[in-house]
Amino acid sequence: MGRTIVAIVAAAVALALAALPIVLALVSPGGLGGLAPPDQGSPSGEAINQLYWFVFGICAVVFVGVEVALILFILRFRRRPTTPADAEGPQIHGNTRLEIIWTLIPSVILVVIAVVVLVRIPAVHATDGDRSNELVVRVEGHQFYWRYVYPDGEISLDTLVLPVDRPVKLELVSYDVNHSWWVHELTGKQDAIPGQVNELLLRPRVEGTYEGDCAEFCGVLHAVMPTTVEVVSGQEYASRIEQLAGQDQSGDSQLALGRQSWERTCAKCHGPAGQGDLAPPIARSGTLVDAEALRMLLDEGLDTPDVEGSMPPVGRGWPAFQLEALIAYIRSNEDLAPPEQDGGGSG
Ligand code: CUA
Repeated sequence: MGRTIVAIVAAAVALALAALPIVLALVSPGGLGGLAPPDQGSPSGEAINQLYWFVFGICAVVFVGVEVALILFILRFRRRPTTPADAEGPQIHGNTRLEIIWTLIPSVILVVIAVVVLVRIPAVHATDGDRSNELVVRVEGHQFYWRYVYPDGEISLDTLVLPVDRPVKLELVSYDVNHSWWVHELTGKQDAIPGQVNELLLRPRVEGTYEGDCAEFCGVLHAVMPTTVEVVSGQEYASRIEQLAGQDQSGDSQLALGRQSWERTCAKCHGPAGQGDLAPPIARSGTLVDAEALRMLLDEGLDTPDVEGSMPPVGRGWPAFQLEALIAYIRSNEDLAPPEQDGGGSG
């Protein structure tokens, strides 16, 4: 009798543990902390979530069915004190009907999953619906920041602004290693790979601020390579782009681009004031304002033998005006600019 109770308690504990992930997933929908995917701000993201729940539902039913049967059978057909030592269960080898049933059920399940997934692929890739009026934005993955280029050449780093309810095509490229653009609550992820242009189509449906990450291990600062997407009204989008105009002429726009280039590229490794952090101090270095030396450094990177690690070629793909903007910002910042008499290529 005591053994029966132990068996029942053990079975109950096993079932409770097995069901825990399912319960967690069900009670925390939309939570990244849970097992459920977050709510999505685009139809393609929603299509991905629907597929997730469809496959999850089938798996949950199969899992619970198998586990319950397993535990019931363990209890029902366990060895009892009266069982003869050489007792054997009924032999079912060659039971054609049983074998057909247990082949057919999984086959049907797999075919149903395959058909539903294939039918939903256009929605997942956002290739369905009207895509005229498409906004094309270039997305560059760099060690360790995201560089966005809007249709007329305006640049922003790490933060992307998109208009709501308009089809968007992101063209993803990389200048160094593999990165992966992933804004969890907007749509699926897409890799940025050197030597290749990958596309990610979406149509943001809900205005708001969406946080994302690089989802491919890309080096020492991979974990702090976040990105933000601001989905705004069409009118607000136009005015935000207008604010970026003039990055290629001296003025506020140029300084703003220079500041972004400093803060989101150089400062991540060299410290906010160039005082040194993960990488050596560079404040007041002459190289910072020497266009030719700086260009070469940002294009080629630098591997100094006595310094651990190496500097990636962070400025690959920058047009000349972005370099000029960076230099203009450094000259305007008294913590960073080298002393006047020294300016010109000593660092
Ligand atoms: Cu870029 Cu990880």
